[in-house]
Amino acid sequence: MDPRASLSILVLLTSLSIHWDDPGPPNAFLPIPGNVDVTTKFLETNKGSAEHLIEGDVVFPKTKNALYCLNNNCFWKRNSSNLVEVPYIVSSEYSSTDISVIQNAMSTFHNKTCIRFIPRSNQTDYISIENKDGCYSYLGRIGGKQLVSLKRTGCVYHGIIQHELNHALGFYHEHTRSDRDQYVKINWEYIPTEKASNFQIRNTNNQNTTYDYGSIMHYGKTAFTTQAGKETITPIPDATVAIGQRQDLSKLDILRINKLYGCVV
Ligand SMILES: *[C@@H]1O[C@H](CO)[C@@H](O)[C@H](O)[C@H]1NC(C)=O
Ligand SMILES: *[C@@H]1O[C@H](CO)[C@@H](O)[C@H](O)[C@H]1NC(C)=O
Ligand SMILES: *[C@@H]1O[C@H](CO)[C@@H](O)[C@H](O)[C@H]1NC(C)=O
Ligand SMILES: *[C@@H]1O[C@H](CO)[C@@H](O)[C@H](O)[C@H]1NC(C)=O
Repeated sequence: MDPRASLSILVLLTSLSIHWDDPGPPNAFLPIPGNVDVTTKFLETNKGSAEHLIEGDVVFPKTKNALYCLNNNCFWKRNSSNLVEVPYIVSSEYSSTDISVIQNAMSTFHNKTCIRFIPRSNQTDYISIENKDGCYSYLGRIGGKQLVSLKRTGCVYHGIIQHELNHALGFYHEHTRSDRDQYVKINWEYIPTEKASNFQIRNTNNQNTTYDYGSIMHYGKTAFTTQAGKETITPIPDATVAIGQRQDLSKLDILRINKLYGCVV
């Protein structure tokens, strides 16, 4: 079936979403267990996802080209108080612990940027956080209801939630930046042909910020590798630089959100 059609059906069938109106104390913090980075974790979780995913966790809308969409400002709107409201609903399948982890991940955006994830009332455009078959999101605001999938087993972690929400705000993966070849070497020999598109350079708006190895949007070194232990991405010139961090939005991630959305912070 056409993946876009299957997504629509999936969304139509989802009548269990609730409005979650209680912000509560946002202090739950749940790091990813073990020595696993964000991309390793979600690539693992996303194996077998029915959605058509680009770069491992971005839903590709057949009806819209994400690049074109971004150039045409497919961002969330800033209101007259200079805050950017992103209305959301969450599925009733989540536990209260899951919800506090999700909310705590959102609170970093609230504390450091002008983005405000707010419970949806009657807004037309909103994100619907659902327990689907992986961790993935659309890129930017697509109009209407848009899915952010956070599978309960495997995606409800601080760093992964922020990663997916950042896609919904319009951010690509860091290693696909237009200038990435100066900062990382892509080891094509360990990348399966059908996954090569995940490493394609994109026409990104880098907003005069330097390449960020520490971005929460950066893949880990062995993402999609064909051979255990062989790197698909190697930082240059210093191969020991850490990439694929799983903890939190980096300083540059935050700066970029603020630049992109014209936040006054
Ligand atoms: C802008 O959004 C903020 C955060 O949701 C809200 O408190 C404020 O009332 C909004 N301002 C206007 C003018 O709508
Ligand atoms: C955001 O700020 C609130 C209020 O100061 C604080 O309770 C919360 O822990 C902060 N969230 C994060 C993720 O730092
Ligand atoms: C939402 O409700 C408010 C208050 O009733 C109304 O002013 C506004 O036009 C509504 N917005 C939409 C998109 O329906
Ligand atoms: C980037 O910096 C250049 C020169 O410093 C400036 O002309 C340009 O407007 C900047 N672009 C953005 C998006 O900030």
